[in-house]
Amino acid sequence: MGVPEQNRRVYLRAMFNSPTPPARSRGSGSPLIEAHGVSKVYKSKSGPVHALDGLDIGVPEGTVMALLGPNGAGKTTAVKVLTTLIRPDAGVLRIDGIDVLDNPKEVRRIIGVSGQYAAVDENLTGTENLRMVGRLYHLPDRQARERAAELIDMFELTEAGNRPVKGYSGGMRRRLDLAGALVNSPRVLFLDEPTTGLDPRSRLALWQVIKDLVAAGTTLLLTTQYLEEADQLADTVAVIDRGTVIAEGTSDQLKSLIGGHSVAVALVDGNDAGAAGTILARHGAGPPHTAADGRTLEVSVQNGPASLQFILADLQAQDIALHDAGIRRPTLDDVFLQITGRPAEEEPASGAADGAADREGARQ
Ligand SMILES: Nc1ncnc2c1ncn2[C@@H]1O[C@H](COP(=O)(O)OP(=O)(O)OP(=O)(O)O)[C@@H](O)[C@H]1O
Ligand SMILES: [Mg+2]
Repeated sequence: MGVPEQNRRVYLRAMFNSPTPPARSRGSGSPLIEAHGVSKVYKSKSGPVHALDGLDIGVPEGTVMALLGPNGAGKTTAVKVLTTLIRPDAGVLRIDGIDVLDNPKEVRRIIGVSGQYAAVDENLTGTENLRMVGRLYHLPDRQARERAAELIDMFELTEAGNRPVKGYSGGMRRRLDLAGALVNSPRVLFLDEPTTGLDPRSRLALWQVIKDLVAAGTTLLLTTQYLEEADQLADTVAVIDRGTVIAEGTSDQLKSLIGGHSVAVALVDGNDAGAAGTILARHGAGPPHTAADGRTLEVSVQNGPASLQFILADLQAQDIALHDAGIRRPTLDDVFLQITGRPAEEEPASGAADGAADREGARQ
């Protein structure tokens, strides 16, 4: 069951209003990245789309915030208004105290942004792309060359650095785009879905690069659809839905809200579902859920491996045969279902538009 609509935000804010700062927090004072009451309405053939609807966020210096939300939640729009790429219809945006709408040029000097769709010139080599970005930032030629070489090494593109980008894989383009966002050594970095589409090894490598940047003092706002990514990288997670923050807290607080891990079992015989459900309910943190096939049951648990062991022992004691059993880590879907009472992929009721119009790539 979700929290009633009108109480949801207050309830969650209160819940996450911890008296002590999060253990991983490195932030000190006022937020380096701020958005207050930001709204943005796109016009589309099917009517107005409220992409941002009173967005409020604050990211303290030296910390990482993840905007976690499903397709169409407003993540890219949030990044675009904060990075001067589009103007909102209402609200206040500040980076390091500088008003984004009044002083976009000043803001651009201190930020780096890597958009959801890699913005690189296909016909140039990786190194040439980075040198070009350096020149856009008015770096002297020698400095632009040195910075390009440094970044090519940092992102393990040394072998590909002198090849045209049109021969790069998706993961290589992603890394090059991220390198481009770092040319001006920004204090404030925005990454829109930095690892979507990467293979597991490349994702781990990129997480490490991001962790190193943060350890060196970069303040970061990233967007993601993966709870695991937010868990790995972020001090604070803001769950965003229909252009507004519906829950905010540390990743641990979010996970505790949904009972951490869950245990799923697939029965050989659907007639055992009743007895198995009783066992899962006994060891679960809430009522078990039975899938439409009538044979797959799942329950949230507090102690992943221990709960699985107890459940398996009790099922065995009652001779209930299994096809499969395991622990499942919580996902964005679980967070959404818990908070909103509906699945993450459900489109907003009114004015849903095609996001394809948005694919020009976000790069200043
Ligand atoms: N240029 C545009 N014109 C019209 N509607 C748009 C435009 N860009 C975005 N939208 C709509 O605004 C809403 C928010 O889009 P946005 O791209 O910010 O979402 P998102 O959270 O980044 O989604 P995704 O996970 O798919 O990248 C969506 O309903 C989208 O269809
Ligand atoms: Mg997006």
